[in-house]
Amino acid sequence: MAEHLLRHRAKEKKLDLDVASAGLAAFPGDPGAENALKVLAERGIDGSGHRSRKVQPRLLEEFDLILAMTSGHKKQLLGLAPQLAGRIFLLKEFAKGAEQGQEADDSVEKEYEISDPFGQSLDVYRQSLEEIDRAVQAILQFLEGGSTMNVAIGSDHGGFRAKQALVEHLRGQGFSVEDLGTDSADSCDYPDIAKEVAQAVVEGRSNLGILICGTGIGMSIAANKVPGIRAALCHDTFSARMARSHNDSNILCMGERVLGLGLMFDVVHTYLHESFSGGRHQRRVDKIEQA
Ligand code: RB5
Repeated sequence: MAEHLLRHRAKEKKLDLDVASAGLAAFPGDPGAENALKVLAERGIDGSGHRSRKVQPRLLEEFDLILAMTSGHKKQLLGLAPQLAGRIFLLKEFAKGAEQGQEADDSVEKEYEISDPFGQSLDVYRQSLEEIDRAVQAILQFLEGGSTMNVAIGSDHGGFRAKQALVEHLRGQGFSVEDLGTDSADSCDYPDIAKEVAQAVVEGRSNLGILICGTGIGMSIAANKVPGIRAALCHDTFSARMARSHNDSNILCMGERVLGLGLMFDVVHTYLHESFSGGRHQRRVDKIEQA
């Protein structure tokens, strides 16, 4: 699954990568697992031509980066090719390192495992694919030269303090942030700010937008008036992930009077790092746009 997803995402970004996969316990020539092919197909990826091959030290030598799903696999790879230690990582470990500019330390390596869904239900395969996709997106962004995401952000007086804290936080995380106001805690009207941020997004000056008012409600109603905007009011990380993954939402709305800063940062982090799944969700988003 990871091979096909990485190749697919690299192609979307017009990155020329040579991607291959091999299994430590694979039977050469076997097709991909039925559920793997199904969840790939749900994303419009055809894995039907896939045939397994077995990991060989000579094959490993051919690649600059070797990514494993579990620490057990990583250890076996290191055993097969100890001279390639600097090129062998866990998929999520490398993605995290790419985000943070450092390698994961051994004590937390377990946290970076993606468990093997082999033989399990379609839902388990789906979850694995989503986990792989998040890691793949981070890796590609890193390989692209760390091209930074541009985020437009705005608030009214009700969201001013949270917006100030978020601007500083996101800049510290390496995002390029366009702060479209408001610039003080003085009373102002949220539709004016919502329009500014929505325009920055639809005109392509920003990849995504964030709007904060007291509840997030006024901002989401106002932003959704602008054609092309899919503003989502999210006060938990699950909704934030789904808003990007299923709805291709392009503006996140939150309420300063609803969320503490800690949870707000987590919601934002989840939203900005998730990507659209496409496939059947694209059809639904197209219907919204045509409505
Ligand atoms: C301002 O008091 C408040 O109404 C506004 O920030 C927001 O919550 C609107 O939905």
